[in-house]
Amino acid sequence: MFRSKIAGIGKHVPENVVTNYDLEKMMDTSNEWIVERTGIHERHFVTQPCGAAELALPACEKAILRAGIEKKDIDFIIVATTTPEHLFPGTSSFLQTLLDLPGVPTLDIRVQCSGFIYGLSIADQFIKTGQYQNILLVGVEVQSVGLNLNTEGRDIAVLFGDGAGAAIITRSDDKSEILSTHLYGDGRYAKDLWVDAPVGYQSPRISKEMIDEGRIYPKMNGRQVFKHAITKFPKVVMTALKANNWTIEDVDLVVPHQANMRITESVAKRLGLPLEKVFSNIHKYGNTTAASIPLALDDACAEQKLKKGDKVVLATFGSGFTWSSAAIIW
Ligand code: UT7
Repeated sequence: MFRSKIAGIGKHVPENVVTNYDLEKMMDTSNEWIVERTGIHERHFVTQPCGAAELALPACEKAILRAGIEKKDIDFIIVATTTPEHLFPGTSSFLQTLLDLPGVPTLDIRVQCSGFIYGLSIADQFIKTGQYQNILLVGVEVQSVGLNLNTEGRDIAVLFGDGAGAAIITRSDDKSEILSTHLYGDGRYAKDLWVDAPVGYQSPRISKEMIDEGRIYPKMNGRQVFKHAITKFPKVVMTALKANNWTIEDVDLVVPHQANMRITESVAKRLGLPLEKVFSNIHKYGNTTAASIPLALDDACAEQKLKKGDKVVLATFGSGFTWSSAAIIW
């Protein structure tokens, strides 16, 4: 068995910044409401047209450079996204073409906010068995084009943003290591945060009626998501600690999926962790779903809150419902 590690990380967000004040001009909302309930001040929206693969490409190039490998060394491309360009094939196929890596296997995974850690777990298994040596793992979202940016969509529209984060997962030859990953899901709550249409069980999959009824936009039972998030996050962090015989005091940094600052604060409190040990950058990007963890890792490194040898726990909760964690030596 080999050991795996995150060897390099990269991020890319669209240049176009959309502040809460910009949203005030599109819908009945206020900067005050958004900041108070979510901690979000601004997010980035693509200038159309820009698909997920195109948005991810610069993040991949940075991650490859930082990992000290060459593009041709990549054995496998895994992309986690909720917002692919097309129904099929997956974003990973388009990304492979942009990277000019024909022949390299590609895999899309669709577990929304938990996508990056699910992908990390998949990559970890392939590295451990020795099948692959260098895996490109991407979390990317182009949420903005699918949001209802009017008052009827405001509960969701103010939360989400676009962005991309990429990581190179390689065989570890030093102390850095992905120690464990822990994946969960409960499909009974699938419709508490979902997009109904296009639907795959009727023809045509999309119609004018569906569009008029707003079935193409995400719908969320916000209270239900919040309630589950604040219990599942601490639990899944504890699972990662127990699996590695760590106490909460051993941990240098917890990097949670950036869903909502109030959720992050509640998780910190329940874990007995000072807020300085729970990374947050939601104020800058909003909720970027599968991109949120790699964006946070990149920013944490840039802000020197994450250093080589640090003990880190990553944790997610989101649509599906899905939730997950990972224990890492950075
Ligand atoms: O990755 C997981 C993604 N999802 C989440 O993490 C979301 C988890 N849920 C939440 O964070 C919270 O439920 C929200 C931030 C989404 C909403 O906060 P809330 O305290 O649960 O508000 P609410 O939905 O109960 O709405 C309170 C009021 C309502 O008005 P009335 O009925 O009291 O008059 C809403 O219509 O706030 C209104 N409202 C808004 N007002 C201004 C809802 N959205 C907005 C908005 N601007 N954007």
